[in-house]
Amino acid sequence: MNIAVAGTGYVGLVAGVCFAEKGHKVTCVDVDVNKVELMKAGISPIYETDLEELMRKNYEAGTIEYTTNYIKAYEYADAIFIGVGTPERTDGSADLSYIATVARQIAETVRQDCLIVVKSTVPIGTNDKVEQFIKDFLVHDVKVEIASNPEFLAQGTAVHDTLHASRIIIGTESEWAKECLLRIYQNFNLPIVSVSRRSAEMIKYASNDFLALKISYMNDIANLCELVDADIEDVAKGMSFDDRIGGMFLKAGIGYGGSCFPKDTKALKYLAQKYGYQLKTVEAAVDVNKEQKTRLFYKACDRMITFKGLKAAILGLTFKPGTDDLREAPSLDNIPLLLEAGAAIYAYDPVGTENFRTRYPEGKNDNGTITYVHTPKEALESANICFIFTEWNQIKSITPKEYSLWMQTPLVYDGRNIYKVSDMNQAGVEYHSIGRRN
Ligand code: UGA
Repeated sequence: MNIAVAGTGYVGLVAGVCFAEKGHKVTCVDVDVNKVELMKAGISPIYETDLEELMRKNYEAGTIEYTTNYIKAYEYADAIFIGVGTPERTDGSADLSYIATVARQIAETVRQDCLIVVKSTVPIGTNDKVEQFIKDFLVHDVKVEIASNPEFLAQGTAVHDTLHASRIIIGTESEWAKECLLRIYQNFNLPIVSVSRRSAEMIKYASNDFLALKISYMNDIANLCELVDADIEDVAKGMSFDDRIGGMFLKAGIGYGGSCFPKDTKALKYLAQKYGYQLKTVEAAVDVNKEQKTRLFYKACDRMITFKGLKAAILGLTFKPGTDDLREAPSLDNIPLLLEAGAAIYAYDPVGTENFRTRYPEGKNDNGTITYVHTPKEALESANICFIFTEWNQIKSITPKEYSLWMQTPLVYDGRNIYKVSDMNQAGVEYHSIGRRN
């Protein structure tokens, strides 16, 4: 089928490339000329495993193209997927201005019957409004209908998550729309759940918020484990054998980050409030997460007289491994506190350093300083304290012995529970992690 995709961020670009891979003819539209030129040259604007390879392969095969010319892309498309951002407003609600812009462009350009599929995460009921909006502005006498098709890809594994998704959710209000989406996904050979448009919108939020809740719950229990001398890793393992609980997303740590869980929890909380309902479980997940992010720092404050002039090694800046994304990363909560306290920070991250540097330029900052280094060793050499914020393989491969050899004071605060407590203790490292005995 002839598919257009609006927006080439994580959602749009990955979807477009995967549709091309599955035999459709795809045109990806973006407003950014430079981005479009880069994509034509086979360069992905986002850091994502396997993506560039598939981009090049399909571009050479002529199954995908990139353009800023939305008119050409939308005019005779059988389906248009919208994958533009829905950023968080200051009050927690979703900003739908990008969707509105694309909807208007679609209304003014489509010249044949067309299914418009919203992939972006949008508050429940939004697609009803988008459909009305497009119909209000429709220039040509054609049939348009909106469907909801939320995605469940995680950053770092986006291509794999799309091609091997646990399920495809299609939310439609007519047989015509449902049949069209079934045809689009025919070659994916994945389970398809067909529901109403509003239920599909809700499935996306309910899934993300449930995962956020699961993480916050484990972090809450981890904090209690520390007080009662239990071990959260053992507790999680014991829980995981119960199929009703499941073994995934039980990992306690420094709190969830990224663009999705923080945004979607706040958006659902806001939506509930609008209807006069208090979504207490999700509110609790948000509160626990907020405190979790700086717990290690405040633990370190209890141990230290001062951070002034001390070399603090920071291992990991991104919100998780496999991405250069810093959005809601725990490093962004902790580094300002360390700088305020006068620390001399030496930060290492395999891919996130350049992004971080644009927010915190190298050199003096607040009462402290920040220096970016290329290896974990440079960060750790002669350091007085170390904080681990991201579980990159490059960081996991540092041995306990190396901390005691390289650091002036082998004192490690690990937000990702990378090491066995006994291994660190044996190597002479004073080790503090989450939910475990020291
Ligand atoms: C998340 C969901 O996992 C995807 O299914 C969803 O499609 C996506 O949001 C989205 O809405 O677009 P993502 O934010 O990329 O994906 O990353 P995750 O791998 O889910 O990790 C989110 C955060 O949770 C990370 O900070 C991670 O460190 C943390 N986490 C994850 C834990 O602290 N413990 C765990 O057990 C799992």
